[in-house]
Amino acid sequence: MLNKIYTYFHNPLKGWDPISDAYANSYSNYSKSNFDASCIEELNALCGHLIGKTLIDLGGGPGQYTLALAKYGALVTWRDVSKNYLKIVQQQAQKENLNIDFQLQYMDTATGSFDVVFNRVCFHYCINDRAFLKTIYQLLNEKGIAYLILHNKNMANLKHKNLIKRLYKYLVHCLNTYASIKIGHPPFGQYKLKKMLCRYPFSKILIEPHGNNTKVVLFK
Ligand SMILES: C[S@@+](CC[C@H](N)C(=O)[O-])C[C@H]1O[C@@H](n2cnc3c(N)ncnc32)[C@H](O)[C@@H]1O
Repeated sequence: MLNKIYTYFHNPLKGWDPISDAYANSYSNYSKSNFDASCIEELNALCGHLIGKTLIDLGGGPGQYTLALAKYGALVTWRDVSKNYLKIVQQQAQKENLNIDFQLQYMDTATGSFDVVFNRVCFHYCINDRAFLKTIYQLLNEKGIAYLILHNKNMANLKHKNLIKRLYKYLVHCLNTYASIKIGHPPFGQYKLKKMLCRYPFSKILIEPHGNNTKVVLFK
């Protein structure tokens, strides 16, 4: 609710950008040097191939993955709230002569029908976890695949050194996990993930935790 009210006053189309120019450039460089090609290769294999597949990258950021997916032949839509990231990914797409559809908007309100939904390390930034999973489900066409890399509970900072901060983080985590009251952007663990996923008739679900991230692949 609080997160939703926040979005009414923070409209990316009216100039609001949560990411500064400096941060956008530094994350873009970080993302380039830590690029994980294995997830693109795996997604390509899971789809048979990505050539001609319609794909939306929700929270695409500086676009390293958006661009790589387009190079594999997918028809890619990038969607994010940051105009500074938009500038970076647009410039690079132009340089590499890649045709990408750009949407400067909240990932939560995405509509359309896609073969693949891609969402990497930004699920927890959504306005409401359950509503966002519903958006993802609705974006998938009949045989669609959602490929998600989620920050998991290890990133919730529940072991913060400062006792007050630790208690606050724990409260925020519990409210989100057990009462679906989301304050800020707490990552969540497998308990909540499984509770949310069982509402949808996916034909197959893969969940693989790796350190701070959990890979989730959903087959409609
Ligand atoms: C950690 S970055 C991840 C970027 C990219 N997916 C990657 O793997 O490098 C998080 C991204 O989520 C975007 N973001 C945060 N909240 C969002 C929202 N509600 N709707 C769309 N994008 C959002 C930010 O602008 C940023 O680009």
